[in-house]
Amino acid sequence: MSINYNDKIPNNVNLANDRKLQRALEHWQPHFLKWWDEQGPKDYQSNDVYLRTAVGVDAKGWASYGHVKMPDYRWGIFLADQMPERKIGFGDHFGEPVWQQVPGELRSQFRRIIVTQGDTEPASVEQQRLLGLTCPSLYDLRNLFQVNVEEGRHLWAMVYLLHCYFGRDGREEAEELLARHSGDTDNPRILGTFNEPISDWLSFFMFTYFTDRDGKFQLKSLSESAFDPLARTCRFMLTEEAHHMFVGETGVGRVIKRSLEVMKETGTDDPSIIRKNGAVDLVTIQKYLNFWFSSSLDLFGSEISSNAASSFASGIKGRPDEGRYEDHICNDATYDIDTPEGTEQVSLRNAMNDVTREAYVKDCEIGIKRWNMMIKRANFDITLTLPSTRFHRTIGSWANVPTEPSGKSISQTEYKNGILSWLPTEQDRAFIRSLMQRVVEPGKMAGWIAPPDRGINNNPVDYEYVRLK
Ligand SMILES: [Fe+2]
Ligand SMILES: [Fe+2]
Repeated sequence: MSINYNDKIPNNVNLANDRKLQRALEHWQPHFLKWWDEQGPKDYQSNDVYLRTAVGVDAKGWASYGHVKMPDYRWGIFLADQMPERKIGFGDHFGEPVWQQVPGELRSQFRRIIVTQGDTEPASVEQQRLLGLTCPSLYDLRNLFQVNVEEGRHLWAMVYLLHCYFGRDGREEAEELLARHSGDTDNPRILGTFNEPISDWLSFFMFTYFTDRDGKFQLKSLSESAFDPLARTCRFMLTEEAHHMFVGETGVGRVIKRSLEVMKETGTDDPSIIRKNGAVDLVTIQKYLNFWFSSSLDLFGSEISSNAASSFASGIKGRPDEGRYEDHICNDATYDIDTPEGTEQVSLRNAMNDVTREAYVKDCEIGIKRWNMMIKRANFDITLTLPSTRFHRTIGSWANVPTEPSGKSISQTEYKNGILSWLPTEQDRAFIRSLMQRVVEPGKMAGWIAPPDRGINNNPVDYEYVRLK
């Protein structure tokens, strides 16, 4: 169904046909806008930003581009088209028709999963709130805002499900989603990573590379769900999500490209000299990578999880790309989990978090390979690596077990000393912060980042992506 932009809330779910739901969402809408005003990007709210807006839900040609003021962005409810005769693809109900309503006995589990997903969306907008003040270019500023408005859209996606399928409880949860705030001591966001401040652009690029990618895999699992409206919602969110990871991959890539240029100019990879020349040394990039990768791994939950098993069994959440597997029941299969006590064989259903995490790690490696190719082509003998999944964990069987980035177990003291060279130190962060100076002349880039290869939607790099007057 095409998207109706005549309604107060753009949608492709025929909202006008359900007056009660429409009224409830129209009641929530000003609360959302108030949240955006208070917790969304600081400043720039009256500037025209070159943003894309969904016009359809097909993967091809689904968006239109134009300058709009962020508060006027048409946030709405867009579900991927219903697949006729869709059947449940995994678990105890394998092969049965999918559900258009939430089964009563699964209500609280579904609600929790939708609330947890929904909570991450506004959280990331809050985390990134101040970045606009130190943007390295207009191009990047626009990308930041594109990500932000779409995370706002993803909040709408989850709030629609809560309002439509969970009655009064759902409406209360929707209000709570606006009441919790990233990093708030009294009422923080649900997941740890989403309470980490993102106060510099290197962190932003790492976040969009690693943490938005966690989002991709959560959405992939949920787009397998037996609850069809959830599956369709997540399928369309994935289309939007791809751009966020593009921002991360090209962002980190451009920082590396700039370091390589400076390494060539100065003929050294000595971090202090690279820094003196205003670029980020690769050692620091590796540290940021270690931090954001390990922090994002925690988002998948414990490797061995009865919760994950029951989500799979009951049809709530499948594996990413469930269709790729042969066995969709997974009742008898086992899975080897790496634990500090050695390999532990568990039932595959109990290991679903780890299965998803493994797919995620593979996906993370693709960008690392590309970045290493750039380094190699520039003739430097340095490789960036993903740390072991054992390293710097706070959730799962490796939580708080001291290991090197290679995964080798070490003593607490060795860990304490090592951490200074493995994770960003206060000095590293202060250095990165010192680079964060606002550059807003069209086409101009801050000195620590290379320009992108191309602009957005066939526009040149020096296009006026954000009009500041
Ligand atoms: Fe999102
Ligand atoms: Fe995202």
